[in-house]
Amino acid sequence: MTDFAALGGPPAFAEPVHVGRPNIGDRDRLMERIGGAIDRRWLTNDGPLVREFEAELAAFVGAPHCIAICNGTVALEIALRAAGLSGEVIVSPFTFVATAHALQWQEITPVFCDVDRRTHNIDPARVEELITPRTTGILAVHLWGRPAPIAPLTEIADRHGLALLFDAAHAFGCSHRGRMIGTFGRAEVLSFHATKVVNAFEGGAIATADDAFAARARLMRNHGFADYDNVTHVGTNGKMSEVAAAMGLTSMESRDDFIGVNRSNYEAYRAALAGVEGLELLPFDETERCNWQYVVIEVDESARLTRDELQTVLWAENVLARRYFFPGCHRMEPYRSLFPDAAARLPETERLAARVLALPTGTSVGADEIATVADLIRRALMDGPRLRRELRAAS
Ligand SMILES: Cc1ncc(COP(=O)(O)O)c(C=O)c1O
Repeated sequence: MTDFAALGGPPAFAEPVHVGRPNIGDRDRLMERIGGAIDRRWLTNDGPLVREFEAELAAFVGAPHCIAICNGTVALEIALRAAGLSGEVIVSPFTFVATAHALQWQEITPVFCDVDRRTHNIDPARVEELITPRTTGILAVHLWGRPAPIAPLTEIADRHGLALLFDAAHAFGCSHRGRMIGTFGRAEVLSFHATKVVNAFEGGAIATADDAFAARARLMRNHGFADYDNVTHVGTNGKMSEVAAAMGLTSMESRDDFIGVNRSNYEAYRAALAGVEGLELLPFDETERCNWQYVVIEVDESARLTRDELQTVLWAENVLARRYFFPGCHRMEPYRSLFPDAAARLPETERLAARVLALPTGTSVGADEIATVADLIRRALMDGPRLRRELRAAS
């Protein structure tokens, strides 16, 4: 057997193996739909494909309104505005930075609340102490597709008169207590970014049961136009194009296949990594619907390599495992400068940001790749002390 690539051996993979290469559905159907849009010369502005995509989403999620948006970030911004949020909003720092930026972009102060070490989601026991007279809402993330603590957050939000919104970018196709994500809080925001289980190249949606909120969000998505030349609201350009909706619809048709592949990938990792000391594969609640989109491991203190050392070893092998969501939003600008003491208040986020690694999955990754990645991880951790010594000597 050759040595690890980090120590001079040949890499296990000739080409990079990515965490989330896009799932591609039926190309012919996609091209047919795009051809139809071109034939109609209706490329954007609430076209028939966007409306069809919205209807599909609403039916699948079970939400009365699904408003398709150009991406999840703008969908978050529009949702926050349509909910009338201002001042301060309580949010998890252990998320993709778009969650915090959507607030900051609108001059709403993100107030970072620590997460629960087990769920990786916002810790409801920490929320209340952060509420001030300026607080107008809570923006909770269903991280990795595992639902945020919906019931306690709803109770807190109701008691304090706060809006509760969910960043459901990871959780399309997931359920909580038998109810689909997309039906909770004032609104939930979905992402159909290329790396998501269902993608629209770039895309997002706001799901809500609130008619007035939905009407406002629709206006805001299209510059506030209520009619051809009647602007009734401040707005932006959050429209989804017909090409994006064509991909979204086509992707929806293969949704169950994509989720099935994610699940079998997850199970293959679980079997192959069972019993590796110092490593835990993040579990999902298998009594619920789940999209199995993320394969996340935690590397703890008993492992023979740190998470960062393991990542270095994997990257040398062309396995581009990612440190999501390192180092935490609170350590990124502008939040690091705005809240220089935040880390001290966020011990669980700090701890997780140092331990978590997301592994390659999705339809571009097969059983052979997973077996190789898992074998590399197992061997690297077994050989940890030598790897650490030699990596340090080489640096
Ligand atoms: C948790 C979370 N929120 C928001 C977003 C932003 O979504 P988008 O990339 O569609 O703008 C992402 C991105 O992937 C995300 O992971």
